[in-house]
Amino acid sequence: MNKPRLVLVPPFGDASHWDQRPRRILVFGATGYIGRHVVRELLARGHDVVAFARARAGAGGEHHRDQTAAMFPGAEVRFGDVTDPASVADDAFRGERFDAVYSCLASRSGAPDDAWRIDHDANQHVLAQAKVTGVEHFVLLSAICVQKPKLAFQRAKLAFEASLQRSGLRYAIVRPTAFFKSLSGQIERLKRGKPFLLFGSGQLTACRPISETDLAVFMADCIEDPAMGNAILPIGGPGQALTPIAQGELLFVLLDKTPRFKRVPVALLDVIISVLSVLGVFSRRLRDKAELARIGRYYATESMLVWDAEAGRYDADATPITGHQTLQGHYARVLDEGLDGQELGEHAVFQRRRVSSGR
Ligand SMILES: NC(=O)c1ccc[n+]([C@@H]2O[C@H](COP(=O)([O-])OP(=O)(O)OC[C@H]3O[C@@H](n4cnc5c(N)ncnc54)[C@H](OP(=O)(O)O)[C@@H]3O)[C@@H](O)[C@H]2O)c1
Repeated sequence: MNKPRLVLVPPFGDASHWDQRPRRILVFGATGYIGRHVVRELLARGHDVVAFARARAGAGGEHHRDQTAAMFPGAEVRFGDVTDPASVADDAFRGERFDAVYSCLASRSGAPDDAWRIDHDANQHVLAQAKVTGVEHFVLLSAICVQKPKLAFQRAKLAFEASLQRSGLRYAIVRPTAFFKSLSGQIERLKRGKPFLLFGSGQLTACRPISETDLAVFMADCIEDPAMGNAILPIGGPGQALTPIAQGELLFVLLDKTPRFKRVPVALLDVIISVLSVLGVFSRRLRDKAELARIGRYYATESMLVWDAEAGRYDADATPITGHQTLQGHYARVLDEGLDGQELGEHAVFQRRRVSSGR
């Protein structure tokens, strides 16, 4: 078995020892926020990419096959069902040889059953076929929050991470900090003159946000840089760690408005969780809503930074960073051009949801 390592300082810079030969790569979760950028980055590096998608892809099943195929010029797009091991074998791998597999699969709802079905079971189906067909390298998109697991989706991810580490395949487990889309949910509120909502003081948490394109570059590096093999890679973006209040201040400066904050007590989330948990005994829909509220509470109180278990605190300085795009630049772009592609879908808390005719 390969020995897992937690790499805290990625060896950026000297690429002279990297293995940059073109490879044949199969990508799962290609239609997601990160997955689509990973496909584009791999293609840009000259790899031969096959993207696997479901027949109706996207958060609300809004993309038909031809629309999905059109997302990835230069890639072959195959369709099937990641939740069905036979489809993963027959429709995705087709018994062919791939050098590497990327999985950017993730439950879109975060509901416990769906998290286990996608973040764990579907990834297991992919891993099983990767082993059978002789794939050498498996790159997994995970999340930094699994280091302090309290939620169903985190446990599902961790269980799969453990399987991957035991698999004998060369692996990279990428654990990013917060994505830009997760910090963009209040832009529209502020434009409408509303205050920025904060949980507690607005300084309970911090993160080093990373853009989807910087993360895609980092993930593409994983198969080229030997130091990124058989490793768990926490990763954030450039710039200082930002608290929610600092994120709000950035936005008010860009909007040229006087900062206005409204504080929401974390205890309110506790009440919502308790009520939904009790009602959830009778209804699965309410059980799932209770889990969504737990997810909200987790992000209101836990930082997306490397956790120092010995010191019992999050450590911004120990959180590796990469890339060039800052949250400030991202906010400026969204204010100019709109959210396009940065919508939160089913994870929206502060953001108005896009109406979809799908599921
Ligand atoms: N948001 C953050 O700030 C943050 C920070 C760090 C880490 N992460 C982690 O990053 C990961 C991916 O994030 P993301 O934003 O790129 O995810 P996303 O946009 O929700 O994409 C999820 C992908 O999984 C696929 N998928 C989900 N359910 C499926 C199903 N039943 N059948 C087939 N395919 C299915 C989706 O396909 P469809 O397009 O067909 O739905 C999509 O390709 C997650 O594990 C998350 O925990 C997130």
